[in-house]
Amino acid sequence: MVKQEIVMSGIRPTGFLHLGNYFGAVRNYVRMQDEYNCFFMVADLHSLTTHPDTKELRANVRRVIAENIACGLNPDKVALYCQSHVYETGELYLFLNMLAYKGELEKTVTFKDKAKLQPDNVNAGLLTYPVLQTADIIIHRAQLVPVGKDQEQHLEMARNFVKRFNHRYGEVFPEPYAFNYGEDLARVPSLDGSGKMSKSENQMATVYLSDDDELIRKKIMKTKTDSGPTEKNSAKPDYIQNIFLLLQLFSKKDVLEKFENDYNNCSIRYGDMKKQLAEDVVAFVKPIRERTESILNDEKYMREVMEKGAEKATQSAKITMQLVRDAIGLKYY
Ligand code: TRP
Repeated sequence: MVKQEIVMSGIRPTGFLHLGNYFGAVRNYVRMQDEYNCFFMVADLHSLTTHPDTKELRANVRRVIAENIACGLNPDKVALYCQSHVYETGELYLFLNMLAYKGELEKTVTFKDKAKLQPDNVNAGLLTYPVLQTADIIIHRAQLVPVGKDQEQHLEMARNFVKRFNHRYGEVFPEPYAFNYGEDLARVPSLDGSGKMSKSENQMATVYLSDDDELIRKKIMKTKTDSGPTEKNSAKPDYIQNIFLLLQLFSKKDVLEKFENDYNNCSIRYGDMKKQLAEDVVAFVKPIRERTESILNDEKYMREVMEKGAEKATQSAKITMQLVRDAIGLKYY
């Protein structure tokens, strides 16, 4: 049964999803689509704050849409759309900017980080990034926002903007909160043993959904191991624990148990374990990669998805903007 609550999230079109994105985000979206009224948006406008050159944008936007569909997101069940296709967001962003203070925007961690990275382009869009993100969310009056911990501060700011709006003009918006089924999101460890899998500089440490079978095998076979435990039931070093975490995500239970046992009685062969893991990851990624390619090659389908998504999102945005204009009182005749 579809619940009344509205779910909204934004996906950065940095192109090429990896396994960390899949387990940290996409898998949750796919689960939510049957339970909530969902809006999933490719944040192409936000990318202009850091990437004003739009040459690569088209390919990235298309790929991220195709990959999400290939992972199981159904554009008939959710609104899957591009930020720039919903013009109403720009108007709401303008109103919200009047309620956002320079001081609080300057204190935002992501702003400070990005300003440091691009000191010659500290543009106002970068400063008001959380305002646009708030507009994305509340244009659908969404309450549930599936995002990772790194977005917590933006959501807190969104709640502040909403409170100020409601206080000044009347109750129009619910306060949005991060939402992930109350469970910790599955953490996919990086293959070089440094934290979680992310779009990092070390391409070999991250498995992308677009990687071909050989590349996946190569990446996994390169992960660090050692000569194995010498004492029974000893604790696992981090880099070994990470391989076990990956087995947990991708391999069958009996496979995991076999290698756990082998580890505990010091007979483990890491080469075999990595070979097995590589094949299980290949079996997971391959169908997604192939579906992505066929979706991307279907020009007509891609256009239909984006048009349908824009239409659904615009319809919802128009209703909200009417409420907003009425509440603010911009009516002179
Ligand atoms: N800022 C988010 C990120 O970096 C992307 C985003 C844009 C977003 N608009 C959003 C997330 C609205 C949730 C809701 O990942």
